Amino acid sequence: MPGQPPAPGGAPAAPAGAELPLGVAPSPLALLLLGRDRDLASERGVDCPGDLPAASDPALADRARRARAALGDRAFVLGHHYQRDEVIEFADVTGDSFKLAQQAAARPEAEYVVFCGVHFMAESADILTSPSQQVVLPDLAAGCSMADMAALGQVEDAWEVLAEAGLADSTVPVAYMNSSAAIKAFTGRNGGTICTSSNADRSLRWAFERGERVLFLPDQHLGRNTAVLQLGLSLEDCVVYNPHKPGGGVTVEQLRAAKMILWRGHCSVHGRFSKDNVDDVRARIPGVNVLVHPECRFDVVTAADSVGSTEHIIRTLEAAPAGSSWAVGTELNLVSRLAKAHPDKQIVFLDKTVCYCSTMNRIDLPHLVWALESLVEGRMVNRIVVDGDTAHWAKVALERMLALPGSGTTRG
Ligand code: 13P
Ligand code: SF4
Repeated sequence: MPGQPPAPGGAPAAPAGAELPLGVAPSPLALLLLGRDRDLASERGVDCPGDLPAASDPALADRARRARAALGDRAFVLGHHYQRDEVIEFADVTGDSFKLAQQAAARPEAEYVVFCGVHFMAESADILTSPSQQVVLPDLAAGCSMADMAALGQVEDAWEVLAEAGLADSTVPVAYMNSSAAIKAFTGRNGGTICTSSNADRSLRWAFERGERVLFLPDQHLGRNTAVLQLGLSLEDCVVYNPHKPGGGVTVEQLRAAKMILWRGHCSVHGRFSKDNVDDVRARIPGVNVLVHPECRFDVVTAADSVGSTEHIIRTLEAAPAGSSWAVGTELNLVSRLAKAHPDKQIVFLDKTVCYCSTMNRIDLPHLVWALESLVEGRMVNRIVVDGDTAHWAKVALERMLALPGSGTTRG
């Protein structure tokens, strides 16, 4: 239904009997691509349940400024680095998902936390803020296709497979921040921790001090890249668990022998970069440095010069000498902003084709203005609330992560 909030994880659940696009295995949270006319209800959450200002309104930026000023310290606006320029301009703090998780708890006096990012980040903000604070996501359609690749029922089934094989007690779940609150709660309940791309190595070391193997979800690439390139495990130590196949498509012997059980999920933005992109840019720009995010595929990361979280990418480019050349493999809003901020360096996008995160881009100036003006008028809109039990266990897992020493990355 238009205007109906999405299911936990950001994307709407498939309605009973809905026909899925060919090649998409049915799951409770199968991603329904926007605009597919095979499922007319697939754009739930896209309609704004209010009067959205016209995108062409020339007064939009002024309206946002006025509403922001009127709210003062009552509001705290957080902006992920992948947000559009028009939105990031209004963020009190910008950051990657780790920094934003820390910052969410940093302003207990703010009544409203307006989260310019995606659904799983707003859920984490709700979990980490006090009960009196209310978290707003300006567009409920800002989900994350990666987070939707691990539904709670699928993960519970996988845990059952491990339990039947006698392996659950010696396996520690590590969930990437890019997962629903329900998955974070599962992780907390089962003795695991959360990680972000800034601290995945530390989270994995923490887990290996407590168990023989890790169930890493939902991003197979971050899991594999961190295990092999930072912890020194081998590719043979990793197996991929496919939730759409019986038993995950792997044998009990493979699960028993594995150090890393990688959930078969990926980021639809970072997963696009290829080794060909790296070879191509090296041929086009002599001496170019290739800098990528660890959600990229293993062959891309190993062909790159440096890999790390969005904060690492920003710091690396800030510290780079004038005149140096960089091809960056991460979301295009951030790469374009960095290219503008450093005109003394050549900064190009690693792929030749456009690669925005379509769900991050759902938060635009009209939605931000609508959310801020509604708050000024005393109307709470698009509030993100995680239920008490889920929030409790997700917080246990998040706090294990926040207690890890430091938040450093990476190679390079
Ligand atoms: P970080 O913010 O942890 O670098 O993650 C990137 C991302 O894909 C967020 O959705
Ligand atoms: Fe999800 Fe990838 Fe977009 Fe991040 S960039 S929100 S992981 S789809």
